[in-house]
Amino acid sequence: MATPGDVTTDAYPGGYADDPRYSKVVEAALARLDLDSKARLLAGQDLWSLPALPEIGLSSLVMSDGPVGVRGSGWTPDDPSLTLPSPTALAASWDPELARRAGRVLAQEAHRKGVHVLLAPTINLHRSPLGGRHFEAYSEDPLLTARVGAGYVTGVQESGVAATLKHFVANDAETERFTVDNQVDERTLRELYLAPFEEIIATAHPWLLMSAYNSVNGSTMTEHRALQIGVLREEWGYDGVVVSDWLAARDTAGAIGGGLDVAMPGPQTVFGPALAAAVREGKVAEATVDATVRRVLLLAARLGLLAGAEPAVPAARRPAPTDGTACAREIAARSFVLLRNKQRILPLNPAGIGGILPLHPAGIGGIALIGHAARHARILGGGSATVFPGAVVSPLEGLRAALPEGTPLTWVRGAGLSDGLSPAADGFTLRAILRDASGAVLADQPLPDGRIRWMAETLPGGADFDALDTVEIVGTFVPRTGGPHAFGTRGLGVFRLTVGDKTLFDGVHRPADADPLAAITGPPVERGVADLPAGLPVEVRLLASTPKMSYGSLRGVTFGLAHHEPIGEDDQLIEEAVAAAAAADTAIVVVATTETVESEGFDRSSLRLPGRQDELVARVAAANPRTVVVVNAGAPVEMPWRNDVAAVLVVWFPGEQGGAALADALLGHAEPAGRLPTTWPSRLEEAPVREVTPKAGVLRYDEEVFIGYRAWQRHDSEPAYPFGFGLGYTSWEYEHIELVGARTIRVRTRNTGSRHGRAVVQIYVSPTDATPAGGPRRPEQWLAGFASFTACPGQATEVDITLPERAFQIWDTTSGSWATLPGRYTVHAAHDATTPALSTELHITG
Ligand code: BGC
Repeated sequence: MATPGDVTTDAYPGGYADDPRYSKVVEAALARLDLDSKARLLAGQDLWSLPALPEIGLSSLVMSDGPVGVRGSGWTPDDPSLTLPSPTALAASWDPELARRAGRVLAQEAHRKGVHVLLAPTINLHRSPLGGRHFEAYSEDPLLTARVGAGYVTGVQESGVAATLKHFVANDAETERFTVDNQVDERTLRELYLAPFEEIIATAHPWLLMSAYNSVNGSTMTEHRALQIGVLREEWGYDGVVVSDWLAARDTAGAIGGGLDVAMPGPQTVFGPALAAAVREGKVAEATVDATVRRVLLLAARLGLLAGAEPAVPAARRPAPTDGTACAREIAARSFVLLRNKQRILPLNPAGIGGILPLHPAGIGGIALIGHAARHARILGGGSATVFPGAVVSPLEGLRAALPEGTPLTWVRGAGLSDGLSPAADGFTLRAILRDASGAVLADQPLPDGRIRWMAETLPGGADFDALDTVEIVGTFVPRTGGPHAFGTRGLGVFRLTVGDKTLFDGVHRPADADPLAAITGPPVERGVADLPAGLPVEVRLLASTPKMSYGSLRGVTFGLAHHEPIGEDDQLIEEAVAAAAAADTAIVVVATTETVESEGFDRSSLRLPGRQDELVARVAAANPRTVVVVNAGAPVEMPWRNDVAAVLVVWFPGEQGGAALADALLGHAEPAGRLPTTWPSRLEEAPVREVTPKAGVLRYDEEVFIGYRAWQRHDSEPAYPFGFGLGYTSWEYEHIELVGARTIRVRTRNTGSRHGRAVVQIYVSPTDATPAGGPRRPEQWLAGFASFTACPGQATEVDITLPERAFQIWDTTSGSWATLPGRYTVHAAHDATTPALSTELHITG
């Protein structure tokens, strides 16, 4: 059955503006509120919620991140969350219906955790592979982003939970994110960065949108009248709530006048009492506050939080409950992208498939599984997207469970994952001691690793934040190998770090240019080296004597102990890996990035795999021609060895069931049928957009509409793997293409391989004579539609793909409107952005 590349939202329950079901009850509630209560409703009462107003029957509304799970109101592992694969993975499925199912299962989690608003999806674009939160966004293409995002929003909201499009707009990198002014010309803004917001609002009606930290063309986004009122409200008719990114709102009159509805987090914000005062001083009209409160009450009504209003989705109409674990496993396997699968590798695959994958159990001798991440997979990206998973299946556990009994499977670590420090974990037994100013112990809490992230309201043992004076991480470390071990601290403030009887640091860490949330997101800093013998326990202590962090209304404790194994250890580990690979029939190497590479609050500076992983792969591949490399990263990495190994499988950050899904894919129980949602360059130097660091506070989007494949088309060099690329386990022949409606293309595709598989038919359009001389510069071709479906060997499938009008329009800056460019367009049905299969012509009239 063919699944068109868009989601049908006919059954969608949450209509738009002036819904008669709600207008009466909203107006009645508004009329009963005084100015102070109205102003209070527009400000967070704490980190995650808006206040209840019992006098009008309004309950408190709770929000939570997003996007791979629902964290809930705490920031601790005590309240685990179902953890789905990263957004890049979801986009790699090219399947809005799968995204819809992800949305449904997350809404189910939200109901379980008492959350009403999910702070997701992130629909900023992959402008540059260096963007720190690349893993958290979908694609370099606005159409793919919009379709996947619409599926996700629909799934969340048809289950009675609100979704939040974020971050509006042009929040495509992290450096100086609170202050950067992104200079983007109007056409680029419309055709690329605003496009997914526009389409998702039109098709899936998200109930919230999050205003970004950054400025665009001189105005900070929370005060951006032209975009938040002019475009969003007046042009697009958006009736949802605009919530600030956390701590993004700076000015009371500027923000409310600029279209912001809710300032988060609380309790101190620019709204609340400050807003009431601004009205009394005549700086803000009360009618503006009323219009804003109306939108928040409408949201509450939709969610069933306002007495007298039936929720948009009553409990009885929610979709049937889903098995979250099974869903996480299926999405992961569906998202994996097979980049290489070398043919005719010996011994020949008895499954009759040319490549080394899937590994056929009958042909599998011993397997050497190599890599730190094979045992401790990186299942999700860092920053606010972090959730705390329950049970995680590692690649090692997944394979062990799936391989036939008796198959020899060995694991070796291979090489350190890191160029630097990572949270103290392996070999550490740690706890945290919280003390008051007299030195009395307020709480004593075991720690799973060297990371502390507590919010003021949820300190261990119910300790009182105001009484807290110091926090000490204490414990023992048993080194696996002897040698110079590096130790470090993470966080801001005054620290004393001792290892055994040696004090490695006693001082203050507070760099002047740190990101405002650096205490949470900043990288660790090395403080010294201790020469330690293997196997002997040593005492470690990290005393934070100013542990309390506050920024605006954010209050908590966030710092950590970091560690790095002796450098020389890698030599020995690589030798062990090479020996294990040489002795096995097949070597599987899992390579990964870390939280100091892909996270929030900073961008990447390199696409290299951290540590000596490239060397590890090269050495293993030289020792065993049957080497399969599994890439565990949320964003592109350089793979200098990619043509020297038998197979390359990208598994992204695969969520909690990643290891089980990996076994499914490697053994052929599931097809890794994902296609890249973004171009993977060979080397960073060749990537078209590499500038993510503002100059004097300004980041210029000078490349205009030429990002991703739109830019590679004009490039001298070829990427390692193009946008849309992915092999799967079968092959597809495009047999026929025809125009069957004004903008509807029919494509017939046949599964010519020997396995049931999934196709992703991609339609690109390219202007033949449709760009007038001297007219706007346009890409050679762009994605205009797609469809994904499964078929048995030999089966032919026909799909009709209707291309949107927008595919033939540009933003005309002179008239300030969309203009259709008439003329002839070539329409390609393609395997990926650089491999067209069939083409036809389409004539667009003006
Ligand atoms: C992030 C948002 C997130 C918010 C709340 C911000 O720092 O940019 O994406 O929803 O924090 O955690």
